[in-house]
Amino acid sequence: MKGHIASISGPTVRAASLDGCFMHEVVLVGDEKLMGEIIRIDPGYAVIQVYEETHGLKTGAPVLRSGELLSVELGPGLLGGIFDGIQRPLEDLHTHWGNFIGRGAAVKRLSHKRKWHFTPSLKVGDPVEPGTVIGTVKETETVTHKIMSPPGVSGKIAFINGGDFSLVNTVAALDSGHKFSLRQRWNIREPRPNGGRLPFTVPLITGQRVLDTLFPIAEGGSAIIPGGFGTGKTVLEQTIAKFASADIIVYVGCGERGNEMTDVLHEFPRLKDPYTGRPLMERTVLIANTSNMPVAAREASIYTGVTIAEYYRDMGLRVALLADSTSRWAEALREISSRLEEMPGEEGYPTYIASRMAAFYERAGRFICHGRPGEQGAITIIGAVSPPGGDFSEPVTQASMRTASTFWALDYGLAYQRHFPAINWRTSYSLAAPNLAPWYEANAARGWGAMVSETNSILQREEELLEIARIVGMDAMGEPERVAIEAARLIREGYLRQSAADPADSFCSRTRQRQLLAIFLYYARALESAQRGGAALEKILAAPMTERVLRAKYLAEEELETESEVIKTQTAAWFAREET
Ligand SMILES: Nc1ncnc2c1ncn2[C@@H]1O[C@H](COP(=O)(O)OP(=O)(O)OP(=O)(O)O)[C@@H](O)[C@H]1O
Ligand SMILES: [Mg+2]
Repeated sequence: MKGHIASISGPTVRAASLDGCFMHEVVLVGDEKLMGEIIRIDPGYAVIQVYEETHGLKTGAPVLRSGELLSVELGPGLLGGIFDGIQRPLEDLHTHWGNFIGRGAAVKRLSHKRKWHFTPSLKVGDPVEPGTVIGTVKETETVTHKIMSPPGVSGKIAFINGGDFSLVNTVAALDSGHKFSLRQRWNIREPRPNGGRLPFTVPLITGQRVLDTLFPIAEGGSAIIPGGFGTGKTVLEQTIAKFASADIIVYVGCGERGNEMTDVLHEFPRLKDPYTGRPLMERTVLIANTSNMPVAAREASIYTGVTIAEYYRDMGLRVALLADSTSRWAEALREISSRLEEMPGEEGYPTYIASRMAAFYERAGRFICHGRPGEQGAITIIGAVSPPGGDFSEPVTQASMRTASTFWALDYGLAYQRHFPAINWRTSYSLAAPNLAPWYEANAARGWGAMVSETNSILQREEELLEIARIVGMDAMGEPERVAIEAARLIREGYLRQSAADPADSFCSRTRQRQLLAIFLYYARALESAQRGGAALEKILAAPMTERVLRAKYLAEEELETESEVIKTQTAAWFAREET
């Protein structure tokens, strides 16, 4: 079980004489027992990626096999947890950023001391199949954690006990001798089994108007947020983490700035889940492998995140996984690949980058629960992509575009004008939108599809008109065209633009989106018909209701109905005066 270090290259180590080792086996490297994983086996050597800084390692130092695959520990206590890329808790993150885990620290993950109240769902003699719920633990105020029989385990209950238990106590056993505790382990490289995929029919509401209205994402779908430096990827990921209509949020901060994760840690415990009113951290798991942390653990962080997401999905919950930024993950793959002297593909990324990205996004979906055909769970994956120079033709953006069904492109120009979220409404798209249309008709508003088309055509017409105006000058444009441009401006500024920093505007419920869009479309039509009825352009552009329309987004649902009536009355009065 013991070999030794033959050579060291950055985060990778070659070990000799590791007889019987296997791919993805966890090993302990050097005298400090740094944790690593076998990622290649050559004749006579195993190549290991080490999850800690490799400085100080010496050739000849021992390498120990563990006989285990790299796995996460799954059970109560994940929610509210903050972990590094290989699920080591980062409890001291607030105070000791950068130097918070001792090297070679024995890996402790979830607390084995804390007691949880286990309520059995079965009794002696009941049959158990993989996925059967043997009991429950109230993990937080709103999340009931199902203790499930792991894949591959079946039999009849021989004993089962309710009461307070730690994660590692035995709570039940099968006639076969298999013992259940409140935890299970799962290899992060292997997707957890499911009972089959289901079509997309329900949207994941993000509370962001431009996304939910124009480019909706399905529950179980996947989206990418590509954007150049400073275009708002992190703010958007964090805003979605706060407001998404999901039961569980797994947020993976991957290779990004440490202070951004500390911001999340300070902010989330103070914020409330808009759907349950409980603190946000009660539904959130944070995985942080920031730019100052070892590169190999960054590679693993994505898999750790998605495995935890799958575990909650298996309980029949709706999970959203947010990853910021998948480009830093791809860069970790590139660095490790170059250390292995693999043949580089485009821009030095390994040739398997596209298949790795695809395999990650394919773990999103709506699924029948493994072993429980009557239940379903979903994972929605939203990954930020940071193309250098904002150039979307680079390999990571291209590879993720091919697999993600929703594309939310951030735009330098809009960010520069401080139009946030800087989603480019011309280049973004949602392949899921047609599947979600029936849901919106039934749940948002009858005629919602028509309202969205009307919004799209107003925006598109503006684009065409501005193109002409660039050539002939705005003053040479006809009055109907000037009015059309004004209507589009109002939609852009009053509807699409939404400040993440303003508590009154950062989240817009489905109902408010419907109320607001109805006001904008009413007003656009009113301006157009006033123009046709002979109102002067100056009068239209100076209409005092415009200010009210633009500010409507700051109003609450119950105020919006009245506001809409006031706007309508004032509009009628203003233009009636014009006609007489
Ligand atoms: N939705 C928003 N509402 C208000 N301000 C925003 C919004 N999105 C971005 N901003 C502003 O833009 C700044 C940069 O945003 P952010 O850090 O999210 O960009 P980024 O794309 O993640 O950058 P990087 O490429 O450095 O990771 C924020 O600090 C904030 O001032
Ligand atoms: Mg960022």
